[in-house]
Amino acid sequence: MILVTGATGNVGRQLVHQLVEAGRPVRALTRRDPAAAGLPKAAEVVQGELETIGRCLEGVESVFLIWPFHTADAAPAVVQAIRRHARRIVLLSSGAVRDQPDSSVGRSHHDVEQCVEQSGLAWTMLWPSTFAANALWWAGQIRAGDVVRGAYGAVPMAMLHERDLAAVAARALTSGPLCHDGVRYVLTGPEVLTQTEQVRIIGDALGRPLRWQELTREEERRRLLADDSFPDAFADALLDGYAQMLDGPPPVLTTTVEEVTGRPARTFAQWARDHAADFA
Ligand SMILES: NC(=O)c1ccc[n+]([C@@H]2O[C@H](COP(=O)([O-])OP(=O)(O)OC[C@H]3O[C@@H](n4cnc5c(N)ncnc54)[C@H](OP(=O)(O)O)[C@@H]3O)[C@@H](O)[C@H]2O)c1
Repeated sequence: MILVTGATGNVGRQLVHQLVEAGRPVRALTRRDPAAAGLPKAAEVVQGELETIGRCLEGVESVFLIWPFHTADAAPAVVQAIRRHARRIVLLSSGAVRDQPDSSVGRSHHDVEQCVEQSGLAWTMLWPSTFAANALWWAGQIRAGDVVRGAYGAVPMAMLHERDLAAVAARALTSGPLCHDGVRYVLTGPEVLTQTEQVRIIGDALGRPLRWQELTREEERRRLLADDSFPDAFADALLDGYAQMLDGPPPVLTTTVEEVTGRPARTFAQWARDHAADFA
């Protein structure tokens, strides 16, 4: 049995689908009403929280662990609970551990990794670049008009499709012992794009011209805090991350997705076509 945490999220939902399609037994964790979680019938959907993960680990061999918190405070208890039942963790960590070690995101993921590494469990760490799915934060603006307002439009990003990230996780969770154990996978999309370019590509997928309108950092901060769909606590971390990415070297692309899955990483144009309905 494979336990997928964050099963309703960008990556977890994809992963549950891929594992079910591959005929693997899956348990999916959500805080929501399981019946309303929209997960495949073949998955065993259980209601609960990471903080009480021990309750849903009976019979579980491998765990896909996501860390949705801003600190690693809960990590020792969560990892110990997993250790009492399972053999393997695949951790959705972040490339920020290496690229932005002093950021709150980089620090918390680093500390969770330390707990996992010291647990004695077999582990694989996933270090993804920026998720293509972050573009969904623009969905409201795109539904309302042809202009996307934001700050740091020139930030270069190696946007990664959640399907590719989930496919790597699925391999790590289902391959034999030692295939992916003790490895940190640096995962990127196949191209570097600015936010301004991403907006144009989403427009191409929707068949209407979209354009980026640059805001100052303070204007964007105010806009994010007023947006109920965006978590307030993440606004400064996001903008700090973009500022660092703009000042630093452009992202280095990897071919790890293809090496692990046998299929090249999907382009952002593909992601935009897959998600056209989310912007319409
Ligand atoms: N966005 C990026 O560019 C990026 C880049 C690198 C790494 N990451 C990392 O990726 C992770 C986010 O992955 P994602 O985008 O797939 O997730 P997401 O779409 O943001 O969804 C968050 C998931 O976490 C679950 N969750 C939240 N609090 C929980 C709790 N207390 N107990 C159990 N489940 C809880 C939610 O489940 P329910 O609501 O169903 O309970 C939901 O499925 C973060 O750790 C982030 O740092 C993101």
